[in-house]
Amino acid sequence: MHDTLLLFGATGDLAQRYLFPSLFHLLRDHRLPDRFRVVAIGRSEHDDAGFRGWLRQRLDDGDQRDAEALEELLRRTVYHALDLNDTEAMAATLSRYGDRPAVSYLSIPPNLFEPACLGLKAAGLLEDPSRLVLEKPIGHDLASAREINATLRANLDESRIFRIDHYLGKAPVQNLLALRFGNTLLEGVWERRWIESVDIIVAETAGVDGREGYYAGYGALRDMVQNHMLQLLALIALEPPSNLDADSIRDEKRKVLRALRPMTAADAARDSVRGRYGDGVVDGQAVKGFSHESDVETFVALRAWIDNWRWAGVPFRLVTGKRMPARATEVVVSFRPVSHWLFERPSAERARSNRLRMRLQPEETIELGLMGSLAAPEWGATELQPMSLDLTMSPTPKRRIAYERLMVDALKGDQTLFVRDDEVEAAWRWIDSVSDAWQAAGIGTRPYPAGSWGPPEAKQFLPGTLSGNGGRRP
Ligand code: BG6
Repeated sequence: MHDTLLLFGATGDLAQRYLFPSLFHLLRDHRLPDRFRVVAIGRSEHDDAGFRGWLRQRLDDGDQRDAEALEELLRRTVYHALDLNDTEAMAATLSRYGDRPAVSYLSIPPNLFEPACLGLKAAGLLEDPSRLVLEKPIGHDLASAREINATLRANLDESRIFRIDHYLGKAPVQNLLALRFGNTLLEGVWERRWIESVDIIVAETAGVDGREGYYAGYGALRDMVQNHMLQLLALIALEPPSNLDADSIRDEKRKVLRALRPMTAADAARDSVRGRYGDGVVDGQAVKGFSHESDVETFVALRAWIDNWRWAGVPFRLVTGKRMPARATEVVVSFRPVSHWLFERPSAERARSNRLRMRLQPEETIELGLMGSLAAPEWGATELQPMSLDLTMSPTPKRRIAYERLMVDALKGDQTLFVRDDEVEAAWRWIDSVSDAWQAAGIGTRPYPAGSWGPPEAKQFLPGTLSGNGGRRP
């Protein structure tokens, strides 16, 4: 395990909210190497003591049991204020850390990846076996993603590049593979003959607050679909890998992404809806709408088609939005109706409740919807009702911040939960087709009040598990 972590963007939002808390938990739980050290790099002027004080304030939750681990993390952390465009100064400051293999974690905007690489290279910190971890976004479209990947490749081998998609660090996301390939029952029906549609929903109550500048250039399509949602889609749709090696899984994910049918302008109106939230009420609080001169979407609903043998003709509906009535990340796999209906009541329509519903956030539940006869039937008619078989794991495993798992994997050098260059590019190729189709067909955003499930036009994209529940937990 490498034991030096150079953290770029150390005073940024992500570092404060997730990266340092993850390191703190890992250190407390003895999951880091003995000689682990953090070299924090940011723009703000601090000396070591000043940075430690700043970090202590953010991490100290007053729990005495954790106080020792927190002090230990601070003792192991040094800070440097650096201008990443000044390669010489970077090299002079950072070269002293080249004595041990390092992992450099770039939690900085993508336009700084290249200067950061130059400085790291000059400091000798990209030599084999050092590694580089990158936060999203990896570009803004296919062309810029290719440029970034080319810059990275010019500096180090793909086997030492770790592109983060924090959804892959979430244990319930990994459980998708476990469920599918650990159970004959599921893998046997995991294809077009048995499955009618797949829904992937990531609804957030949070808004865009504080990130308007970044968001206006990206929107929900690039911020959420290009990465997290397409990774979920790929994990649901991939062919069985022959083993769990990083590249075996990533090869299969890439094939799925490459099989996504590009959206055309002619399909755009049928297969997509864009929305933008206005004023409304979320969690009982009045909130302001997202106003920005660009027509960027805070909600998107898409129907994606995977043109391959397994999934031909099965729609994958992807829906994500900010300022929704509830936080909910879920995958709903709906099975085809039974081929011949034997029962008088209810109608065959209700037999559509045959579905597997996996809720990944905020709580983890797995439910299999089945039809059954619950009550004693009246003479002469068998009354069926939709029932739900609760497959929720019991006891619910204790989950860690997704970044904890990803940090340990990067220090160990396990790339399984990181995204490879060709996956990123395949995802961008499809996203570009959607954004080009929107432009060509003149698809703009539709308004929706904060606290609703998106614009009315999107209703057909929402599974019954979410819509029309008046904002209560679906
Ligand atoms: C980030 C997006 O990648 O994921 C955010 O930039 C979004 O806009 C976040 O809120 C959602 O992550 P999670 O783990 O809260 O579902």
